[in-house]
Amino acid sequence: MKAALLLLAAGEGERFGGQLPKPLVPVDGIPMLRRSLAPFLEVKAIGEIVVAAPPRFLREVQTLLEDVAAVRVVAGGATRQQSAQHALGALTADVDIIVVHDAARPLVSRNVIDTVIAAAETHGAAVPAVPVADTVKRVREGFVEATLRREVLRAVQTPQAFRFHIYKQAHERATAQGLVATDDAALVEYFELSQVAVVDGSPRNIKITRPHDLALAEFYLRHPQV
Ligand code: CTP
Ligand code: MG
Repeated sequence: MKAALLLLAAGEGERFGGQLPKPLVPVDGIPMLRRSLAPFLEVKAIGEIVVAAPPRFLREVQTLLEDVAAVRVVAGGATRQQSAQHALGALTADVDIIVVHDAARPLVSRNVIDTVIAAAETHGAAVPAVPVADTVKRVREGFVEATLRREVLRAVQTPQAFRFHIYKQAHERATAQGLVATDDAALVEYFELSQVAVVDGSPRNIKITRPHDLALAEFYLRHPQV
């Protein structure tokens, strides 16, 4: 089985703020992007990696990753979905499985990666998820419309994995119809291209969105048992 990784690092990091582009921000001394890449380098099936970087910081990201032979850096787009498409378009070899990961999740574990890839091989598409701690309500114009049953809800993470043709078709159709989604699996669901298997994610696999997320990530790194 051959796989490729699309590592998405082209966001503006608006909610995070600060001077540095988010993927270059040190997480306990190591740039976030290097941390989110590292465990994938150990996965034998992944032969090719494309990183979507902010167009303004292409050089910096290339320099950061210049020692990693399997990596190519391309300019991302205006949305996450466009960045994924740019990265997909830069692949040179045929692969069976596409793995997509947010560079903003530097605590991803090898276990989650392996589980999601295996589930995608079997089922066509797979996402890691964790139970939701809060009660979630649907709200409209300041009033509750419905309270959702927490037992059936999951918070979905990356990496997500897909059989190549399913992933490619999902993005082609989304582009044709102008559909924009916040994760890749949503496109597969919308066009009913495959069932999407849900595997166990990790509570540690947080997305660094705001500054306090960085503090939490560093806490986790210093407390491997938590
Ligand atoms: N991403 C991307 N291209 C975009 C937007 C997002 O590659 N045009 C990537 C981000 O770099 C990140 C992941 O998608 O790794 C998830 O996005 P998010 O956490 O929202 O990061 P940002 O978009 O950078 O942050 P913000 O929304 O606060 O600007
Ligand atoms: Mg964003």
